[in-house]
Amino acid sequence: MKTEQELARAQQDRWQRAYDENPRLHGSEPSAAARWTVRLFGAAGIDDVLELGAGHGRDALYLARQGFSVHATDFSESALDQLRLDAQRDGLDDRVTAALHDVRDPLPPADATVNAVYANLLLNMAFTRSQLRSLMNEVRRVLRPGGLFVYSVWSTEDPHFGKCPEVGDGLYAKDGFAGRFFDRELIGELADHWELGGADAYDEGPRKLWRVTQAKPA
Ligand SMILES: C[S@@+](CC[C@H](N)C(=O)[O-])C[C@H]1O[C@@H](n2cnc3c(N)ncnc32)[C@H](O)[C@@H]1O
Repeated sequence: MKTEQELARAQQDRWQRAYDENPRLHGSEPSAAARWTVRLFGAAGIDDVLELGAGHGRDALYLARQGFSVHATDFSESALDQLRLDAQRDGLDDRVTAALHDVRDPLPPADATVNAVYANLLLNMAFTRSQLRSLMNEVRRVLRPGGLFVYSVWSTEDPHFGKCPEVGDGLYAKDGFAGRFFDRELIGELADHWELGGADAYDEGPRKLWRVTQAKPA
């Protein structure tokens, strides 16, 4: 079994290779979570978003087209290069910035300076439960009181759950990608010290997912 560091390095290499082979791996349509999040953030009067694990930016570009300023981060430089090119092509580069960042490291923003954080299918990547708790603490640290965090993750109801080999600490691997399936209990555990606004099960194609909304207590 790989150490935490070996797993982390292997995942970064795997994602980098995937984006090198297919720079628009996730397509150009926004995710279902992004469409929903635009309405939530819009209604809350939010106009700037920190996106974690943004990939090549299908959601970041969509958020920018809807009028939000987006700071997108990912640990794949290839994905971010594609994001920057597409932002420039679409004339959105004044509203979208992109920076390399591994979410296992502290988030760059200062305490209580961010209005909203968004992460589509990032938290179900190869993080230990302790890394997930640290990430939650970091997101809460950078948010202003009352700030919102929306994330989506694979559900244990997903047809792929239990079909791939386990690689330790509840993580499963397929084609070199490792990830975790979430149940309500884990969502509740990670919402400790937050106001949990909702955990909604939804489908996207064949995938069964959770969309979670939580707020930093004011
Ligand atoms: C399933 S993809 C989702 C990409 C994007 N959110 C979307 O929906 O199109 C997961 C993303 O998380 C990124 N990622 C995985 N582990 C990461 C880490 N430790 N730090 C930052 N990004 C990470 C990958 O590079 C990949 O872009």
